[in-house]
Amino acid sequence: MSRTSGKNLFASKVGAVLAAAGSAVGLGNVWRFPTETGANGGAAFILIYIFFMFLLATPIMVTEFAIGRHGGSTVADSFHKMGGGRRGWKWMGLVPVVGGFLVLSYYSVVAGWTLHYFFEALKGGFMHKGAADYSLDFAAFSTDPVQPVIWTALIIIATCAIVVLGVQQGIERASRIMMPILFILLIVLAVCSLTLPNASQGLRFLFEPDFSKVTSSVVISAMGQALFSLSVGLGCLCTYACYFRKDTDLMKNGLSVAGIDTSVALLSGVIIFPAVYSIPNLQPDAGPSLVFITLPNVFQQVFGNVPFLAYISSLFFYLLLVLAALTSTISMLEMTAVYFHKKFNLSRLHSSTFVGTVCLLFGTFCSLSFGAWKDVTIFGLGFFDFFDFLVAKFIMPIGGMLMCVFLGWVVDEKVLRAEMTNNGTIRCPLYSIYRFIIRYLAPLCIMLVFANELGMFSFLK
Ligand code: PHE
Repeated sequence: MSRTSGKNLFASKVGAVLAAAGSAVGLGNVWRFPTETGANGGAAFILIYIFFMFLLATPIMVTEFAIGRHGGSTVADSFHKMGGGRRGWKWMGLVPVVGGFLVLSYYSVVAGWTLHYFFEALKGGFMHKGAADYSLDFAAFSTDPVQPVIWTALIIIATCAIVVLGVQQGIERASRIMMPILFILLIVLAVCSLTLPNASQGLRFLFEPDFSKVTSSVVISAMGQALFSLSVGLGCLCTYACYFRKDTDLMKNGLSVAGIDTSVALLSGVIIFPAVYSIPNLQPDAGPSLVFITLPNVFQQVFGNVPFLAYISSLFFYLLLVLAALTSTISMLEMTAVYFHKKFNLSRLHSSTFVGTVCLLFGTFCSLSFGAWKDVTIFGLGFFDFFDFLVAKFIMPIGGMLMCVFLGWVVDEKVLRAEMTNNGTIRCPLYSIYRFIIRYLAPLCIMLVFANELGMFSFLK
């Protein structure tokens, strides 16, 4: 298998950071983070999340970068090559294939909702409605057997269109355009939110920890959220790292992406929680519907006297969600499609269309699990929840742990050091800490959390 050629590398260092940040920043930050923070009691959850973010998720991300760039081809080949030809690790190349199908299938359902809400906002469909209407509208839309599937299909088609354009013209260019817009929108909305009445209550919920609320499920959720938010453990970043240049500083890149991702999550919290507290009787633990029911209501009630502001704030917010979702769906499709592209010599168009179609099929099951198929369950969970569980609480931690064990114990230390220092041309001051984390801390942390989850012992109430 040939190494990735020049035009299939990210053209610039900034492009590489933005593309990886684009994968990381997504609904996980703007939708899942506030939902999880609300459900897990606020600030204490956030602190544990940040701990996992920098001590677990970021080292795993750097590990994925190192494996991907060293191999420079498919993830399976990267494992094979870096492991000095040990065939036993080649099967890890299947993780991105399976993981990509699963994650894109359910993620694009929510991405489809955001696209629908964006068009509603554009039409002015949220104007002059009462609080109850938003929840009725959302319930009617999300349980409809056809409508959400059409929006899911549109998201998948848009994603395919970008992936088909290739690494520089598609992925890098889309990230370079979308990420700055996303930042501007975030900042504008956060400033608006901070001026709302009772904003301080929302900030207290976000930043004043109450550790009595910490249970084992809070810890597991915080770990799952950190891994999900950085897109690690599935091999998605291994795939992107194949397109990194030899002079890219992997550690710096990883830390920049983690910094960007955490700031976006916190900014999303700053947008959402002050807004929620600005209206009596709204609760921060409203669940996944928070950004689809609570927020349009907030925008209308708070800016009701100035219809233009009400219109523009919901429009901006849903545009933000759509862009965030798209930069992530691109990376999900890429990691799976590139496997078929390289392994079976399919064109980018054919491999993306194939993966997109299968994901649409699974996505339809996930979408139906909110309505017509509500009672169809696997291990007690509907399709959507089952896919989310499998990805965020199972494949990502196990995948991440295996990658750390591989790089920390199987790969020759010289190879790892050469990768982290670009063959001795740059310094990597955090190298020893990083190596300690991937050899001991990360595998141990993940094993302990799992052991606790399985009830093997209870170190946390
Ligand atoms: N990190 C993305 C988000 O926060 C989700 C994602 C998961 C992307 C796995 C790629 C792979 O939304």
